[in-house]
Amino acid sequence: MSRGFLGYQTSLMLDVVVCALVLVVPLVILSLYLVKVRHNYLWHRNLQILLGVTLLVAVGAFEIDMQLVHGGWENIVSRREPSRSPEEMQTIRYFLWFHLCFAVTTPVLWIITMQKALKHFPNPPTPSAHSHSHKRLGWLSTIDLVMTSLTGLWWYYVAFIR
Ligand code: HEM
Repeated sequence: MSRGFLGYQTSLMLDVVVCALVLVVPLVILSLYLVKVRHNYLWHRNLQILLGVTLLVAVGAFEIDMQLVHGGWENIVSRREPSRSPEEMQTIRYFLWFHLCFAVTTPVLWIITMQKALKHFPNPPTPSAHSHSHKRLGWLSTIDLVMTSLTGLWWYYVAFIR
């Protein structure tokens, strides 16, 4: 578990998570299409659960790899040739903090949205008294996830490609 597969000097799990960040956006769009256009609430629910579990497993494995195997992101970034100046490392750190604003709140919002939806919608799901609150939470979770994805990819670009 030491080298990435996208052609940059990263780690395997970092590249796995970057692929997951790219994949979640079309999957979220598909889920919204299913619910808004096709009114297919069952597949919307199934896709959202699949997305949540996949992301949780990918990010969990990524964190274990990053913290326990590599000893933190700075060790991976500083392996890069030519090496980064302290100023560049600081810029990369700021980008990471910006990304973390979204990355930390997304799983919290996602779990709340999912837990409430599973509890308050009937099975199989159909619009109900919970719809109004779910739409608000759902859009908030969706925007947070998309921002996590965009800022995560941006950080990867700044740290490893630029
Ligand atoms: C974190 C996971 C989820 C997110 C981010 C999410 C997101 C959304 C969004 C944004 C909408 C509104 C679409 C619109 O503007 O019309 C929506 C609608 C809906 N979702 Fe979810 N959803 C999630 C999980 C679930 C689950 C687990 C269920 C079922 C148990 C569910 C059932 C529904 C239903 C029935 C509607 C239609 C509500 C209506 O039009 O009255 N969602 N969802």
